[in-house]
Order: sequence, then C-alpha cells, then structure tokens
Amino acid sequence: MAILITGGAGYIGSHTCVELLNAGYEIIVLDNLVNSKIHTLDRIKEITGRNFRFYKTDLLNKAEIQSIFLENDIEAVIHFAGLKAVGESVEIPLRYYHNNITGTLNLCEVMNEFDVHNMVFSSSATVYGLQEQVPLFEELPLQATNPYGRTKLMIEEILRDVYVSNKNWSIALLRYFNPVGAHPSGRIGEDPNGIPNNLVPYITQVAVGKLPELKVFGNDYNTHDGTGIRDYIHVVDLAAGHVKALEKVMSSSGVIAYNLGTGTGYSVLEMIEAFKEVTGQAIPYQIIERRPGDIGISYADPSKAKKELNWEAQKGLYEMCSDSWRWQMNNPSGYDVEVKEQENLSVTPL
Ligand code: NAD
Ligand code: UFG
Repeated sequence: MAILITGGAGYIGSHTCVELLNAGYEIIVLDNLVNSKIHTLDRIKEITGRNFRFYKTDLLNKAEIQSIFLENDIEAVIHFAGLKAVGESVEIPLRYYHNNITGTLNLCEVMNEFDVHNMVFSSSATVYGLQEQVPLFEELPLQATNPYGRTKLMIEEILRDVYVSNKNWSIALLRYFNPVGAHPSGRIGEDPNGIPNNLVPYITQVAVGKLPELKVFGNDYNTHDGTGIRDYIHVVDLAAGHVKALEKVMSSSGVIAYNLGTGTGYSVLEMIEAFKEVTGQAIPYQIIERRPGDIGISYADPSKAKKELNWEAQKGLYEMCSDSWRWQMNNPSGYDVEVKEQENLSVTPL
C-alpha cells in the first residue's frame, strides 16, 4: 500500500516526502514539474536512502491519473499540486481555476472510482481573508480576496460536499501559515522562479548578493514596529504535520480543517534582524508603500492540531533562518536544472 503525493516535487511536497519515507511509508510522486525540478527527487532519495516511483503527470489528464491508480495499490493521497502565486492568479485567473479546481475534481473522481477516500489537502491561511482578528482559528467565517485564495476556498467546499455524498471520505484540510526554511541537509529547499514574491526567499537572495535590497511593504500597520506580522513556520515542521494528518485520516472519516502554524508572529523588521544575526550579512532595505491586498497581522491558533493531531511546531526562528541560509548558500541558483533535461520523463524505475 502506498501514499500518492501530488505536487511531491515542489517545496512543501518534497519535504513531506522525506518525512513520510523516514517514517517508513511507501510513496508515489505525481508532478507535472510546472513549478519544480526533477533533481529534487534524486535529492529526496539521497537524504532518505529510499526509492520511489515518479510519474510526470498533469492532474488535468484524468486518463493518466487512472493509469497510476491501476498500476499501484494506493491507500491515501496527499494533494499538494496546484498553482500558488497570488499576483499571477489575478492576471490569469482562468488558468488558476482550471488547474487547481479541475485538477482536484479529476483526482477526486479517480479516487472515487478506485475506492480510495483518504486525503490530506493543502489549503492555506489565505482562506481567512482580510480578518484583522488574531489569532486565526478554524471556525472563523472564511473569505477569499484573490483568485488563488478562491481556488483554495472552493476546493475546501467541494471536499465537504464530496464527504456529504459519501461518508467513507476522510479529509484533512491543512491551512498553512507562512512556510519557510529548508531541510537541514541543505539539499532540498524553496526554488522560486525569477524574483521571489515571498519575504524569506527575497531576504536570502539579498543576503547572498543576488538582489540589491529588500523592499519592505509598508511600516504604517497597527503593529509594534508598523511592519506586517506573519506566522512563519519551518517547512520540516509543516511536513511532520502531514504525517500526523495522514495518520488521522487513515483512522477516521469526515472533513476537518487544521491550522498549521506556530502561534507566534514576527514582523518584517524582526525577520530582517534575525537573518542579519544568523548570516552575518547586511540586509539593506527600503520602506515603500503597502502591497495591495496585504493584511497587517496574521498568526494561527494552532491548538486544534495540537489536541487532535498531537502535532506542534518544534523549530524556532533561528532554525528557520539558518536552514534557509544553508540552502541558499549551497544552491545559489536553486536546483539549476536545464528545462530540456526535464522533458520526456516517465516512471522512474524502482
Ligand atoms: P510548489 O509550487 O513548490 O509545489 C506545487 C507542485 O505542484 C509543483 O511541483 C508543481 O509542479 C505541481 N503542480 C502544479 N499544478 C499541477 C498539475 N496540474 N498537475 C501536476 N502537478 C502540478 O508549491 P508549495 O509551496 O510546495 O505549495 C504546495 C501546496 O501548498 C500548494 O497547493 C499551495 O497552494 C499550498 N500552499 C503553499 C503555501 C506557501 O506559502 N508555500 C502557503 C499555503 C498553501
Ligand atoms: N513582504 C515585504 N517585502 C517583500 C515580500 C513580503 O515587506 O518583498 C512582507 C509582506 O508585506 C508581509 C510579509 O512580508 O507582511 C510576508 O509576505 P509573504 O509574501 O512572504 O507572505 P504572505 O503572508 O503575503 O502570503 C503567503 C503566501 C500566500 C498564502 C499566505 C498564507 O504567499 O499564498 O502566505 O499562507 F496564502
């Protein structure tokens, strides 16, 4: 019996593959590599000393998903695959709706067909929308402020309907806060295309000298230093949360949402300071206007995951910064793989 990991070559997926393999699970990775690199998979094998099958498959291709279920004995799915750039989702909403929603519908249909009803889904704290009330807890009313967020909200609702139609389904909706950091080996990490949108990869690229300075988006928020506060969570902690959520869905039924965050928020200036200390590098920055759509404060109430999944984040700000930095230093150009090397890939032989 194996766990299918959609989007397993991506940032959070690759770290979760490591945790699952280390915990003894057999895994199968499905990814179309639209936002990830094939070399990630070799590095997961190198870190864990374990092998697994990879399918270069698009979730929009239902027949290929069916083949994967035919060829393998799958008992649960961890569903990371999706497009995730907020700004891009405003520019090309139809691509986001089609990719994220149609991809999920195809996956659920095939799961139904093969009688597989256990799923862990990558949702996001973005489903809480613009609320200023903190900490954010799972029962708050949800709202979306951009097409990306709406895909997450819609998929959460679709999955609730799917459960109503068939009570065999068991689904965990994991609402991630701000994933940062990298595996302590320095072999896998976040490899954004082009100029990063998110704070931490931007800071590490400034620290390593790839980018001249950070632009801090606003210092007039109602926070202690005026800059935005977020709940940064180490990606290895997040990955461990998936192993716990998987255990939960495989031993129960229903649809349950869980926040995966630390419960502690740090401001942009505190993040800059922490990175300066850890890296010993100057992080030049300039305060500019707010980024449209940003909120001032967001951090989790993680108590439900602690109580029901027996999970809580273990790693602090120092490890978040030092592991991000190690990854950046060891891999200044990310995975640095030519796109042509990624073409014509099929199943990796076991
Ligand atoms: P990522 O882009 O690194 O990983 C997503 C993976 O899915 C990529 O490898 C991509 O190639 C693959 N993919 C996309 N569309 C696909 C399709 N149609 N078929 C097959 N594969 C496809 O992103 P990540 O940061 O690892 O995020 C994983 C999930 O978590 C996403 O669903 C994302 O929306 C969600 N999430 C991420 C964050 C974050 O800040 N990183 C926060 C909240 C939620
Ligand atoms: N920030 C800057 N400069 C930058 C980038 C970010 O000052 O160059 C600030 C932002 O204004 C914010 C904080 O740093 O205050 C964090 O911003 P990120 O872009 O790293 O993260 P967000 O909280 O805006 O959004 C992220 C993901 C979303 C996801 C959300 C909740 O990008 O997809 O976390 O999980 F929905």
